[in-house]
Amino acid sequence: MPLDVYFLPASASPENLAQRTVVVIDVLRATTTITQALAAGAREVIPCSEVEEARGIAEQLPGCAVLGGERHGRRINGFDLGNSPAEYTRQTVGGKTLVFTTTNGTRAMQSCRGARRVLLGAFGNLSALVESLRTEDEFVLLCAGTLGHVTREDVLFAGAVIHRLLASGPVPQPWNDEACLALSAWNGILPGAMNQETLRDALLDSRGGRNLIALGMEADVAIAARIDTTKMVPELQLASWRILPLDHRQQC
Ligand code: MLT
Repeated sequence: MPLDVYFLPASASPENLAQRTVVVIDVLRATTTITQALAAGAREVIPCSEVEEARGIAEQLPGCAVLGGERHGRRINGFDLGNSPAEYTRQTVGGKTLVFTTTNGTRAMQSCRGARRVLLGAFGNLSALVESLRTEDEFVLLCAGTLGHVTREDVLFAGAVIHRLLASGPVPQPWNDEACLALSAWNGILPGAMNQETLRDALLDSRGGRNLIALGMEADVAIAARIDTTKMVPELQLASWRILPLDHRQQC
């Protein structure tokens, strides 16, 4: 059964994702930030494509909702939080519903409506994600990219997932060409990539990294480069359109 990587949501047709397990990847910064928010105790995350949609949902949840996200990389006017993972702490989001919208990451999730299952990946949950993929006999790694452009940081993460899987057991076959390219990209920065500084430098030298440097937000890149800071794997529940911790059913 296949392992497919798509470097952009637009590269994957609805049929490519239908009834499959899809991992959405937006390392800089949406999936890193959502993972951090849930690890910090957010109750759930509602991903929205549009700013007004997010405002409308938050208005229906007075006292329970935190509005977060970005446009052009910056916090949206009237929102509580931006898209920096460091903003998402127990104090800011603990016990709250995070209503969240970003330019590329939350929109990439929209393309997964026909999937069987949707997980979110970031370097912070790399090992936990790989562990949860062990039980899948096929899956898709879907990179969010930036405004229709391929981004190195997301491709590197897709390669890191495949590399980790290969190191510890059987991996679904066959792969599409993007899966082979992603693994080559990751192997190209190994062995140093397991060192946080080397990975941070590679992420800084990416489309998303350069955007964040221009915004004075390179500290977010250093956070996104930390591998295995949490066992939290966010899962987008397609029926309710809520992102919850993967093992939330066991926690209930
Ligand atoms: C996005 O979803 O577009 C990104 O997370 C952009 C950003 O880094 O703020």
